[in-house]
Amino acid sequence: MKRILITGGSGLLGLNWAITVRSRFEVVLALHNREISLPDVKSVKFDNQSRESILKAVKQIQPEWIIHTAGLTNVEDCEKFPDLARAVNADFASNVSSVCAELSIPLVYISTDHVFSGEFKFATEDLPVNPINVYAATKVQAETRVLENYSKALIIRTNFYGWGPSYRLSFSDQIIFSLRKGKKITLFDDVFYTPILAESLILTVHELLEVGASGIYNVVSDDRISKYDFGIAIAEIFSLNKCLIKSGKMAEKADLVKRPMDMSLLNKKVCSKLGHNLGGINQDICRLMEQEKSEIINDILKL
Ligand SMILES: NC(=O)c1ccc[n+]([C@@H]2O[C@H](COP(=O)([O-])OP(=O)(O)OC[C@H]3O[C@@H](n4cnc5c(N)ncnc54)[C@H](OP(=O)(O)O)[C@@H]3O)[C@@H](O)[C@H]2O)c1
Repeated sequence: MKRILITGGSGLLGLNWAITVRSRFEVVLALHNREISLPDVKSVKFDNQSRESILKAVKQIQPEWIIHTAGLTNVEDCEKFPDLARAVNADFASNVSSVCAELSIPLVYISTDHVFSGEFKFATEDLPVNPINVYAATKVQAETRVLENYSKALIIRTNFYGWGPSYRLSFSDQIIFSLRKGKKITLFDDVFYTPILAESLILTVHELLEVGASGIYNVVSDDRISKYDFGIAIAEIFSLNKCLIKSGKMAEKADLVKRPMDMSLLNKKVCSKLGHNLGGINQDICRLMEQEKSEIINDILKL
């Protein structure tokens, strides 16, 4: 079995990655502060992110692929702690890519749909980036430095959801669990994006790795939707009370760090490369429901 090393192993995406591919790959999760364990998955502690320590660890682990998901992902925290955001999001990614280049290990860097200011609807990979907050700026720095260090790296711009552990609920978890408790929630109807189920994202990235793709790819849903309509779609498919969802406007939230109002990305490049569509939002939400019923995500829900 091919061995893959996933940084950010305790995070929402790292955990979903592990359970999605663990039957076909030997998965090693690189952990930082939080210690977790999953059946049939190994883990290692990455003490710090210096190039030397990464090189040493990677030489020991000998992965055939590296998936770099680690990051400081809270937009408000990034604004408060810009140096930490730069160190975790940009410097760490840069060091991982430099090590991968030296050892010729295929690398996936997970970027974001947050790289534009919101001026584009269904943005393509070739448009000029325009980050409007520290989180976005550090992710853009990472993209640039990863590609400078290693032109063969695969950079994925995305926005995903899926079942998360109790300490890291995803957007879909927050909606589902609130509605199940009968709690009212407010979702923005003026913010648009193209969210994809983590499992669909992961399987698509594996297909890209199999065909040796490199450079920037948008891996997102076929559909663009507002956060409010996403909540409504979840409520309808999970048969939950959609009357508990109120619409709100991000434009009226002066206290939030500035964010793009439209983060939608176009997935045409990846669809052409792979020769198939990635699927729409309703299809992915049905799969999210199936994942819960089939209990395949239980190992994450227990954490
Ligand atoms: N969630 C989304 O929809 C979304 C959208 C667009 C892009 N992304 C990108 O996708 C990637 C994964 O996101 P996620 O939601 O899975 O993130 P997450 O749940 O917030 O997890 C982040 C992971 O990074 C690790 N980490 C944080 N600081 C670290 C450090 N200094 N050194 C090593 N590891 C560190 C954390 O470990 P500890 O907890 O132990 O510190 C955790 O495992 C991120 O790069 C993010 O920018 C996410």
